[in-house]
Amino acid sequence: MEVIESTAFINGPAVKDFSNNLSAYLNVKHAIPCANGTDALQIAMMALGLEPGDEVITPSFTYIATTEVIALLRLKPVFVDVDAKTFCIDPELLEKAITPKTKAIVPVHLYGHAAPMEQIMKIAEKHNLFVIEDNAQAIGCDYTFSDGTKMKTGVIGHVGTTSFYPSKNLGGFGDGGAIFTNDDQLAEKMKMIANHGQSKQYYHDVVGCNSRLDSIQAAVLNIKLKHLDEYAGARRLAADFYDTAFANHPKITTPFRAAYSNHVFHQYTVLLENVDRNGLKEFLAGYKIPAMIYYPVAGHQQKMFEQFNVANQSLPVTDWLIKRVISLPVHTELDHEQLTFITEKVIEYLNQ
Ligand SMILES: Cc1ncc(COP(=O)(O)O)c(C=O)c1O
Repeated sequence: MEVIESTAFINGPAVKDFSNNLSAYLNVKHAIPCANGTDALQIAMMALGLEPGDEVITPSFTYIATTEVIALLRLKPVFVDVDAKTFCIDPELLEKAITPKTKAIVPVHLYGHAAPMEQIMKIAEKHNLFVIEDNAQAIGCDYTFSDGTKMKTGVIGHVGTTSFYPSKNLGGFGDGGAIFTNDDQLAEKMKMIANHGQSKQYYHDVVGCNSRLDSIQAAVLNIKLKHLDEYAGARRLAADFYDTAFANHPKITTPFRAAYSNHVFHQYTVLLENVDRNGLKEFLAGYKIPAMIYYPVAGHQQKMFEQFNVANQSLPVTDWLIKRVISLPVHTELDHEQLTFITEKVIEYLNQ
């Protein structure tokens, strides 16, 4: 109501408030709100001064936004395989994919589990590369370094991005996104790019775009941010329930939780072995249990990337996962009865 009464619908005080609260929560100098998580990635890549043809290393096993933006900016996506346990980019393979044209790495904290940032940052430093963390699925996740220090995912790399799409762990009542950095100069540039490259009103220094967060979204997110850790706790409880119910079942592998990452379970994604996955999905749908496949087609096999000739690239873990993953319902409102019903139905199908 305050936003409506103030009529400051775009970039109003609520946006500034949210940006301050978000940067305090993440312990980062700059949190720059923007229109969505895809724009956040685009603005970050525009600000880093990457040139057409520069190579950007990224997993193929991710949502299309991560890799699409690379191609949109006429950069070259270089797809690297993921680790079979964490589902995140494999640092050894990443290092092998570096060429003189490589300029940046985009690790994705998939499903709410952190990519191995300590190793990734070491590789980036050694080869002088930018790291842009795609934190759309893991906001609130804590990363523990080998010396015991903790940081939030999204603020470890040179830039981090996130999405406030309604189903995300911190979701608005519509689209939204943000970009994070500790670098003052980069922050200024990204703010400019997100606002038509404007340095002061009607003076446009660089080519930018129009990517703003609505004040109404900021007001909603400001309230929900206070509960983000509780939300992660509720998601973890649901995940613990599933883990216990499926423990030792020969046809199902429950999600791995690396010691360095406190999983925030944006998705609860299991691997199936010798199971008709679509049959399970349909069987569950018959009981109004929505199970989803994230993602049925890997990035390197998407038609949009035909120009890069990558469809036949060997990414054995990605290809293996794509055929086996299924995500069960996980959110903050699941109760004991619903979890019992879901697990019973999954096991009933597996035991048929
Ligand atoms: C890993 C990942 N990256 C980027 C995005 C893009 O975010 P948005 O939908 O807000 O543009 C999403 C979510 O949709 C995502 O899951």
